[in-house]
Amino acid sequence: MKVFENIVDLQNELFEVRKEGKQVGLVPTMGALHEGHASLIERSVKENAVTVVSVFLNPTQFNDKGDLDRYPRTLEADCKLIEACGAQYVFAPTVAEMYPMPDTRQFEFPPQSTVMEGKKRPGHFNGVCQVVSRLFYIVRPNRAYFGEKDWQQIAVVKRLVDYINADVEIVECPIIRDEDGLAKSSRNSLLAADERAIAPNIYRILKASTEWQNSLTIKETHSRVIAEINAIEGLEVEYFDIVDGNTLLAVNEWADSAYIVGCITVYCGKTPIRLIDHIKYKG
Ligand code: PAJ
Repeated sequence: MKVFENIVDLQNELFEVRKEGKQVGLVPTMGALHEGHASLIERSVKENAVTVVSVFLNPTQFNDKGDLDRYPRTLEADCKLIEACGAQYVFAPTVAEMYPMPDTRQFEFPPQSTVMEGKKRPGHFNGVCQVVSRLFYIVRPNRAYFGEKDWQQIAVVKRLVDYINADVEIVECPIIRDEDGLAKSSRNSLLAADERAIAPNIYRILKASTEWQNSLTIKETHSRVIAEINAIEGLEVEYFDIVDGNTLLAVNEWADSAYIVGCITVYCGKTPIRLIDHIKYKG
């Protein structure tokens, strides 16, 4: 496995790869890798002759500097995991390499980029689109792998692909959870033991709420999920939206859409750590 810091070196290598007719898979990450990331890398390795994993903690998508400062940085361990998954290349550029000058492009894809995370983290999806578009230009992958953990991100990236006419297939990969149901996340390592112990309640309550569809309205389900999570000391719901899976706009009745998803963000513990999750109700 080769690790590149420079764009030109990686591009020269990939030029040779493509000349041999080989297909390229890209797995964009911000590092601090875990089994969730590994599942994306392994899938890309299966489906492409060559896999590039980018490890880049992208500053432009952090609207909260404290969150960026706290974010775990574990490049050496990341490279070991990537190699064990069978990928050929790691792309780990510096911020100066990725952004030689400030990126002033503005991406907005309403409603997908403006609701939920878009509303709560202004500029977040703009930063995601800046870095993902750069990665697409640099790597020119045939396929790019994204996890359903960041369910809204996939919807935004698909809009980006249409907008910039990128010739890339977006491959959606299922969310990977710990045995107790907590969605695997790089931020989980920041949870203290007592915080880690209460965090699985988020998914437990979301899962239970899928059973309420016959007896409760959307509004009642919405209120009950929030009330049950907030009743647990140390957990506080930032938002819970029950939305149409395609437009990401709020749905008022279960019958109003064939594809309904509940998206949640919860603050956990004293710091606090922001955890996101989602549940499919229909479709
Ligand atoms: P990051 O949070 O490192 O996640 C990289 C990819 O791994 C994303 O597509 C994410 O959805 C996926 N992933 C994370 N946890 C997962 C889990 N438990 N199950 C399945 N997939 C999981 O998302 C980003 O980085 C950045 O926004 C990025 C796209 C790299 C742009 O900077």
